[in-house]
Amino acid sequence: MKIGNIDLGNRPLFLAPMEDVTDIGFRKLCKRYGASMVYTEFVAAEALVRSIKATVRKLTISDDERPVGIQIYGRTTDAVVEAARIVEAEAHPDVIDLNFGCPVKKVAGKGAGAGMLQNIPLMLEMTEAVVKAVNTPVTVKTRLGWNSDNYVFGNKLSTISSPRGGWEGVDLALHLQDCGIQALTIHGRTRAQMYTGEADWTLIKAVKDNPAIKIPIIGNGDIKSLDDADRAFDTFGVDAVMIGRATFGQPWIFSREATETLNNADKIDILLELLQLNIDYIGDEHKAILHTRRHLASTPIFKGIADFKPTRIKMLRANTVEELTAILNELKTIL
Ligand SMILES: Cc1cc2nc3c(=O)[nH]c(=O)nc-3n(C[C@H](O)[C@H](O)[C@H](O)COP(=O)(O)O)c2cc1C
Repeated sequence: MKIGNIDLGNRPLFLAPMEDVTDIGFRKLCKRYGASMVYTEFVAAEALVRSIKATVRKLTISDDERPVGIQIYGRTTDAVVEAARIVEAEAHPDVIDLNFGCPVKKVAGKGAGAGMLQNIPLMLEMTEAVVKAVNTPVTVKTRLGWNSDNYVFGNKLSTISSPRGGWEGVDLALHLQDCGIQALTIHGRTRAQMYTGEADWTLIKAVKDNPAIKIPIIGNGDIKSLDDADRAFDTFGVDAVMIGRATFGQPWIFSREATETLNNADKIDILLELLQLNIDYIGDEHKAILHTRRHLASTPIFKGIADFKPTRIKMLRANTVEELTAILNELKTIL
């Protein structure tokens, strides 16, 4: 499958954009173990336009993680277009992804992210304007709708009237395709669902089955293993599968071979490498430890170890790199 001119091969697996998770160190590891495409966390357009230092840092990408997408979100077309231009000029990503799916109140409540599902005309205007403003392929990531009364895709599509006219009852994917996007990622939940319930892949399939849809459709939601990914390709016919939470603490999830052949000591070494990559990127050991904790807390490596709780607490409370490294090295000897 291809996004623009980028050939991503057959049945590619993508690392989902995730705030505070998919920064450069983690992306590099996921890429090493077979992610075909990786994304930065979402970057606030308004903050980028104002050159807020912490936001500009999020544009840091490296050639060895390509192809890489930088994801942006914002409330106004002007800000998002300006941000897309900055992203293109400063970071040269392979793809610029527009986030129309973030459900959290501070984003969606202000009309950005999944909030755009309540203002489809603005979503389309913004998408079209960004496509026109940059040469980089533009993609979109979104959800099934604002809530179950307002599906925007597939056979459950609601008829929402639009001041722009002409799109009522027609799959949103067609309109986004008409805006010139090069791929569409659909997370099979509504905004109202946040992260609860199950992702509904049947509606993703309905989009994929529409013969008028020519752009690749990337399915996302609840993929926990390569077997799940295979089922998603086989059953729902998507062009790519995107994996989010199941990557926490296991960047090797993208490789069947690595998942089967790496032993626990090897896996701990990979998490130690992640710690070091985070130190290199963040430049502050304590912050890097905090940043790595989500992976240590979620990794499946330690599941099922008898009486692990005290060690787990010690590991997740370790405040220095020496302390944490010692705990992890010790674990290597007992696992
Ligand atoms: C901690 C966290 C942060 C996330 N941040 C983003 C983000 O910045 N941009 C985005 O499009 N989605 C974000 N998501 C949503 C994921 O990309 C993905 O759509 C969702 O987790 C469903 O996929 P999964 O079931 O494989 O986790 C985030 C999810 C989580 C759990």
